[in-house]
Amino acid sequence: MTGLSDSFQRPINYLRISVTDRCNLRCVYCMPEAGVELMSHYDILSYEEIYTVVKAAAELGINRVRLTGGEPLVRAGLTDLISLLDSIETIDDISLTTNGILLAQHAAELKEAGLSRVNISLDTLKPDRFRQITRCGSLGDTLKGIEAAGEAGLTPVKINMVVMAGINDDELTDFAAKTVKDGWNVRFIELMPSSANEQVSSKLVSVSDMRKRIEAMGKLEPSQIEAGNGPAKYFRLPGTKGTVGFISPVTEHFCFQCNRLRLTADGKLRPCLLSEDEIDLKEPLRSGAPLEELKTLISKAIARKPKGHHLAEGTGRKGRPFSQVGG
Ligand code: 5AD
Ligand code: SF4
Repeated sequence: MTGLSDSFQRPINYLRISVTDRCNLRCVYCMPEAGVELMSHYDILSYEEIYTVVKAAAELGINRVRLTGGEPLVRAGLTDLISLLDSIETIDDISLTTNGILLAQHAAELKEAGLSRVNISLDTLKPDRFRQITRCGSLGDTLKGIEAAGEAGLTPVKINMVVMAGINDDELTDFAAKTVKDGWNVRFIELMPSSANEQVSSKLVSVSDMRKRIEAMGKLEPSQIEAGNGPAKYFRLPGTKGTVGFISPVTEHFCFQCNRLRLTADGKLRPCLLSEDEIDLKEPLRSGAPLEELKTLISKAIARKPKGHHLAEGTGRKGRPFSQVGG
């Protein structure tokens, strides 16, 4: 490690890469019903271009990458990108965030190519409700994906549930029960309001509320998880294998420990998910900029990381939808 850090002395070692803005679902907290305007294919970075960015970032000290979307598995040949990234010696951890719909058919080849693990979005265990929340998906596909991920060794598999009042918060304890019965690692996430989810943006359930409701099942003991690299706080119900994690972007922001940069599918580096500030890499990449120039631009993005966001002040977030900047 070179000890890369930003202007607030936060160590930066993690790059999230959105490989596509396309998705095969339309989750209510992520996209408006009509979908969002799509990027043109020309604007989306090629795998070689992504590889070049990661190589430059790795030389600066980034050693972990996560692929996100949209839904990363809708992009053809994702396995090839993973092989390319795996060939960069100092990248020690490649992970993927997916809705799991297409995972069963790809899990084994992804593992083979060098993927370490997956996070799978799942907000309900009820088939009808799954269709309502995702507006089109089938619960069975995601459940098959979860199983296949475990079998392929893409572990620890983490399940992400965005909790929404009156929509799925009655399933908090059902998900917590999965950590007991099936050894699941579930992370309960506060809903972030945005201009793309006005329909549900008043449905926030705070982490402290979630915790109280789960504690009715037993005391939550503080715990750790292998490859815990982000803002979640982990617990276990007594005597269980699985973990209960909480992510509180709204009520207890964790910007002070932010360790990441983001790359959008159209090649912009974002110092922060919740700020519209971006530095373009696509143009320099396509005009043949040397690696040193890319490194300078990446360093600039790190230096521009803001101290924190203002979600708790309540106005909601404008700008690009999460499907374009990688959730
Ligand atoms: N609030 C909280 N999390 C979100 N995600 C996407 N949109 C939101 C939002 N508005 C996260 C969820 C989802 C992943 C793809 O991105 O964790 O599972
Ligand atoms: Fe697709 Fe994920 Fe957004 Fe759902 S949350 S619409 S699965 S990108």
